[in-house]
Amino acid sequence: MKGLENMDLQNAEARVKELHNLLNQYGYEYYVLDKPSVPDSEYDRLLKELMELENEHPQLKTADSPTQRVGGEILDMFEKVEHQTPMLSLGNAFNEEDLRSFDRRVRQTAGENLSYVCELKIDGLAVALKYEDGLFIQGATRGDGTIGEDITVNLRTIRSIPLRLSEPVSIEVRGEAFMPGRSFEALNKGKEERGEEPFANPRNAAAGSLRQLDPRIAASRNLDIFLYGISNTGDTGVESHSAGLDYLETLGFKTNKERRKCASIEEVIEYVSSWTEKRPNLDYDIDGIVIKVDSLALQEELGATAKSPRWAIAYKFPAEEVVTTLRDIELSVGRTGVVTPTALLEPVRVAGTTVQRASLHNEDLIREKDIKIGDKVVVKKAGDIIPEVVNVLAEQRTGEEREFIMPTHCPECGSELVRLEGEVALRCINPKCPAQIREGLIHFVSRNAMNIDGLGEKVVSQLFAKELIKDVADLYKLTHEALIGMERMGEKSVNNLVQAIEASKQNSLEKLLFGLGIRHVGAKAAKTLAQHFSSMDNLMAASEDDLTAINEIGGKMAGAIVAFFEQEEAKELIRELKESGVNMEYKGPKPVAAEDSDSFFAGKTIVLTGKLSILSRNEAKEKIEALGGNVSGSVSKKTDLLIAGEDAGSKLAKAQDLGIDIWNEEQLVEELNN
Ligand code: IVH
Repeated sequence: MKGLENMDLQNAEARVKELHNLLNQYGYEYYVLDKPSVPDSEYDRLLKELMELENEHPQLKTADSPTQRVGGEILDMFEKVEHQTPMLSLGNAFNEEDLRSFDRRVRQTAGENLSYVCELKIDGLAVALKYEDGLFIQGATRGDGTIGEDITVNLRTIRSIPLRLSEPVSIEVRGEAFMPGRSFEALNKGKEERGEEPFANPRNAAAGSLRQLDPRIAASRNLDIFLYGISNTGDTGVESHSAGLDYLETLGFKTNKERRKCASIEEVIEYVSSWTEKRPNLDYDIDGIVIKVDSLALQEELGATAKSPRWAIAYKFPAEEVVTTLRDIELSVGRTGVVTPTALLEPVRVAGTTVQRASLHNEDLIREKDIKIGDKVVVKKAGDIIPEVVNVLAEQRTGEEREFIMPTHCPECGSELVRLEGEVALRCINPKCPAQIREGLIHFVSRNAMNIDGLGEKVVSQLFAKELIKDVADLYKLTHEALIGMERMGEKSVNNLVQAIEASKQNSLEKLLFGLGIRHVGAKAAKTLAQHFSSMDNLMAASEDDLTAINEIGGKMAGAIVAFFEQEEAKELIRELKESGVNMEYKGPKPVAAEDSDSFFAGKTIVLTGKLSILSRNEAKEKIEALGGNVSGSVSKKTDLLIAGEDAGSKLAKAQDLGIDIWNEEQLVEELNN
């Protein structure tokens, strides 16, 4: 018997090895080379066979097995990883002149004999992958450049990352993980169908996926990667960046094929301008071109500043602009009654997403830009996120275009629209206007307000149309029976929704206050009010004087708050919410009065800008506020300090102009921990 079992094991071992080789080969062809040689069904069949063998003989299951892309475990947190060589960032160039002056600087050291490698600047998340004896052992985020997070379990799910290299080398490589356009569109479509907030762009989606503690989420997101460098080329024998990339390929890594070696800055400029045009055709987002000195010896000679190497530069594209047709102008009534015209566009891809709507803000803007229905318009995404009509191509008019006429009456309730003094916007001032009520409900459940997951715009609109909710108090009276009859709401979504509504009752007071949509009370003011008054009852009893006594609360807001709570309907609403068990108390930390804090931040006004990577924006803000600092959204003369994360833009420039102190995130974290 024993002999037979041994025999069996030996056969199994041989077959497992064979299957590893085949599956690695097919996986490599499919995910790295993008040239599958067998149909998917064949791959799946072999993978199934391997899983069965591993189940029968668990001792044959190894870390680099193609079955081991997704581990079962869900992490509690990501461990910190110290980068042996720091992960630097790049200096920026915005135009030809910037590129030429980079070239002049390089030539001062390099002389005449110089070539560059141009690469696409992939808009994703920088990662470092560590291999020991050819085996993938650790993958980390960039973090602050010195310390990142160990996201190995998530990176393992990226099929183009080899779990074992073709040679048993120990090496650390760097690259950009990203979400291809197709995966992004599919992910957001699903999110929208489930009533969830879609991701703003593929970069956020990729970063969000890799920062999940459950690797099954990353595995479902179809991420990909391009490797663009070796941390330490020490004993690899390569002498140039381009040879390094070729070497990465022989090891089994995926590199980007669009790179080009350029013998002069003229060639570089030509490459840059050709990609400015070709960029929309790619199935992944790029935000620029990286230009690197090819010779590693020369790279070393040029060296680096504390932040970035002197041998490379990133040319940043201007915001992508595309032309499309403005099909119609739609009017929507917001929660405050403002009537906003929105351009309905022929769907068009811009900076990674398909755009079909863009706010036109108000009638004045339509006149100013001379926008007509049927016009060809130039569209871009402001800040790479918000779609905007830049201008009209008037010379392409056919005569068929129609003038847009702003209505005199509310498109939803028919009451006459008014233009309040000093405002450009037209408003519907009927407090019973169904559109305003519906938008108010959508606001109430949104993320910064009561944050009820699963209650997106579509579900709220449906519930409202069916008269299942007439005001926010009705949300807490919704039953399982009522919800199960809704479109696209199965047992599971209904259970989740009921639970989310229940959980929202425990929110701290500021979320409710913001959700009520009192005029002039934004999320920040709501927090200040909640901290100051501790409970809804105290706030409701406050006079205008009590309110304006608080530093951040002005007369206009104080008046609006008092007027709001004077309404019988508002009092009744609060009573009903209380009866349903909605929390009316502030639960967060008490603010530290500047004079009670001996922290550096006490009483200072601080602005955060750019991408933070150690802390989230909210964490940074909360920590600063807990120490008596004040976090503001815009830079002015009153700003004491600017924290500049990666890719900081106009706020950084303004702070520099005003001579305001500027720190990086690391300095912030250090001072917070002091
Ligand atoms: S080289 C020493 N090459 O751009 C810096 N970076 O600030 C080495 N990126 O977050 C970076 N594509 O992740 C390099 N082909 C490419 C890149 C690239 C995207 C990202 C990188 C970093 C940022 C540079």
